[in-house]
Amino acid sequence: MVWPGLRRAVGVSGILLCLTGAAAAAGVQQPAPWNANDILGSKHDLTSLNQRAGVEAMAGMAFNDYENPCIYCHVPAEESTDEAETGGAIAGWNRIRPVAKQYEVYNSPSLQGMAKRPSDISMLCLSCHDGTVAVDRIVFKPIGWSSDKQTTLHMQLGASSNIQQCGKCHDGDVAHDISVKTIGTSLRDDHPISIRYAGFAIDNPNFRTVDGPGGFDNGVRLYDGMVECASCHDIHNPQAKMLLRVEAPTLCATCHIK
Ligand code: HEC
Ligand code: HEC
Ligand code: HEC
Ligand code: HEC
Ligand code: HEC
Repeated sequence: MVWPGLRRAVGVSGILLCLTGAAAAAGVQQPAPWNANDILGSKHDLTSLNQRAGVEAMAGMAFNDYENPCIYCHVPAEESTDEAETGGAIAGWNRIRPVAKQYEVYNSPSLQGMAKRPSDISMLCLSCHDGTVAVDRIVFKPIGWSSDKQTTLHMQLGASSNIQQCGKCHDGDVAHDISVKTIGTSLRDDHPISIRYAGFAIDNPNFRTVDGPGGFDNGVRLYDGMVECASCHDIHNPQAKMLLRVEAPTLCATCHIK
């Protein structure tokens, strides 16, 4: 399906030019050719959510439409990632950094190599999915985007009925329930992230050996040797159920030997 008004060539090709910088800062490897249009039409394509929803309910209200779907995460080509960071962004990205120490990370006596706080590439996801930062809180807005287009509210991806949160409408009644998409700041009951992958050099009886430094040939990825949100999820593939790189249980068996 083609959503009207989606091909904003300027934004998309512009963003691509700067990605070497953004990706390098985030420890991202450049894999096989990737199609810039892939994100369009997905739930992360915030620019077209309103049309997709087929209702006027959200328009001009819940979040700024920057008319560029990439800018909600990526630093635009004409700006530098260093300057974004100086402006308060998560390193390598265009999003305002959430308060790092608010996260309760996964904890288990059996775990080693666990970071005390999420790495930047997972912080990117949490900056929307923890429900503490408005989904439109970015450092660099597109050039030419006028503040006249500012919405009245800048909502967070949270389930409460508070006027700051999408849950105001997304309560399962007015609109679909958004609570399952909100991870919150306690990461204790989720899969550990920002944890070093144990199956590298030495044979580990519990973990498979990687196919290469970037992870596995089936698409499951590691970032600087760590498991992150994007290890399992591929933001740019709206065709994939739950944006999963591989479906469970094959996903789990990519890493775990059981
Ligand atoms: C919701 C956040 C988000 C949005 C929106 C987004 N990206 Fe990304 N992008 C990512 C993440 C995370 C990565 C890290 C690579 C990965 O998926 O493993 C990435 C990586 C990339 C890469 C590097 C390729 C790679 O796999 O390393 C390119 C190119 C890219 N994005 C282009 C775009 C373009 C163009 C748009 C807009 C059409 C866009 N992205 C929108 C999050 C986003
Ligand atoms: C700019 C805000 C934003 C960022 C950053 C972001 N997301 Fe999302 N994400 C959303 C929204 C909005 C939805 C749709 C929520 C809904 O359906 O109610 C969503 C939905 C999802 C879904 C469910 C998809 C489905 O089909 O139901 C997954 C999985 C997901 N995001 C993972 C990630 C990961 C992993 C990252 C980091 C690489 C990330 N998100 C970064 C805003 C964001
Ligand atoms: C004024 C009420 C209202 C607010 C506030 C609101 N939404 Fe919606 N939204 C709707 C309605 C109504 C729909 C269409 C029915 C549905 O999908 O549940 C919708 C649909 C959606 C969809 C589905 C689009 C699709 O077809 O894939 C997503 C994702 C979404 N909203 C995200 C958000 C996010 C994120 C926020 C907060 C930043 C938000 N909404 C705030 C009313 C609202
Ligand atoms: C080890 C793999 C793995 C990691 C790491 C991971 N996820 Fe997921 N995620 C999944 C699987 C599998 C599902 C589907 C669960 C289901 O269908 O109930 C999922 C579902 C989701 C959903 C949709 C929830 C729903 O029921 O609609 C969101 C949003 C999400 N993940 C975001 C994230 C974010 C943000 C991170 C990092 C903080 C993350 N995930 C880390 C495997 C992972
Ligand atoms: C990218 C590799 C990878 C994938 C994919 C993956 N895991 Fe993990 N998982 C890990 C690592 C690394 C740990 C940390 C364990 C350690 O170092 O002892 C872990 C830990 C866990 C733990 C906690 C163990 C403990 O000691 O507390 C559970 C439970 C788990 N994984 C389940 C799953 C499930 C279910 C899936 C599929 C949805 C999955 N994993 C997919 C790498 C992965």
